[in-house]
Amino acid sequence: MEAYYSRKYVRIFNGDVVEVLNALPQECIDLIFADPPYNLSNGGFTCHAGKRVSVNKGKWDESKGIEEDFNFHYKWIEACKRVLKPNGSLWISGTYHSIYTCGYILQKQGWHFINDICWFKPNASPNLACRMFTASHETLIWVRKKKNAKHFFNYELAKSLEGKEDFLKKPNRQMRSVWAISTPKNGEKRYGKHPTQKPEALLERIVLVCSKENDLVLDPFCGSGTTGVAALKNNRKFVGIDSEKDYLDKIAIPRIKDVLNQGNLSPFKEKGEMSVSENEEEYGLLP
Ligand SMILES: C[S@@+](CC[C@H](N)C(=O)[O-])C[C@H]1O[C@@H](n2cnc3c(N)ncnc32)[C@H](O)[C@@H]1O
Repeated sequence: MEAYYSRKYVRIFNGDVVEVLNALPQECIDLIFADPPYNLSNGGFTCHAGKRVSVNKGKWDESKGIEEDFNFHYKWIEACKRVLKPNGSLWISGTYHSIYTCGYILQKQGWHFINDICWFKPNASPNLACRMFTASHETLIWVRKKKNAKHFFNYELAKSLEGKEDFLKKPNRQMRSVWAISTPKNGEKRYGKHPTQKPEALLERIVLVCSKENDLVLDPFCGSGTTGVAALKNNRKFVGIDSEKDYLDKIAIPRIKDVLNQGNLSPFKEKGEMSVSENEEEYGLLP
């Protein structure tokens, strides 16, 4: 299968997640961050910038019923297991619409749970109906393939991180499982809005703490390319997949090109060039 966008440290595929994952070599990925459809586009309303707006994200986010949604999540999670290295790890983010389904599937497939993170969004939109609590968090599940797998966790780095983006994180204190990180900043949306774009601060934390330099990071639902930006900025290699060409053309690829071209991001600026090596066997095997 041919990559839609291919550069020395990057492969982006435009296609269905399972088809693309099945075309990748087995056990080649160190870290997967997956932000699958939430199946919450049901014609409801939310509030954005003081206005009533539809919650619908796109056709890709509509629920096809419990059984079909379950089968979809089952298949892509299973396909992720095949491409993940034995000591790699997988993150899945979601709201209650999808995260319990994904959690159940992870249990059924025998993954081992490392953590679940409550990502609190201090600037979440207000609730319009005023008949329930305001939704202001997502859940992130972090798993490894087996209980005895040796997943990577940079404990010292996590502990040392300061709370610039997260008022709950105190420097030199262990990182806890509730993270307070705001939704993406305006600059992160300079190429346009993706309806479910994740903040770079969230992805940078995951990439930095759960992978090493030169590791290969995969996002099977890369959307606006946030995981790719976080990976490349921090000297990791990146494979992204998305079925919507528009998101790739208009947002993800331009954002990734910025990281590759500008060279004004810390690791590359200091070294004058990217230090990621492409010689590693598993990356060479990618289509
Ligand atoms: C929740 S969004 C991910 C957003 C991303 N984390 C970001 O920061 O921009 C899910 C993405 O999955 C893509 N998608 C939905 N169904 C897909 C499928 N079957 N195969 C590949 N991508 C799919 C959508 O186009 C959408 O961009």
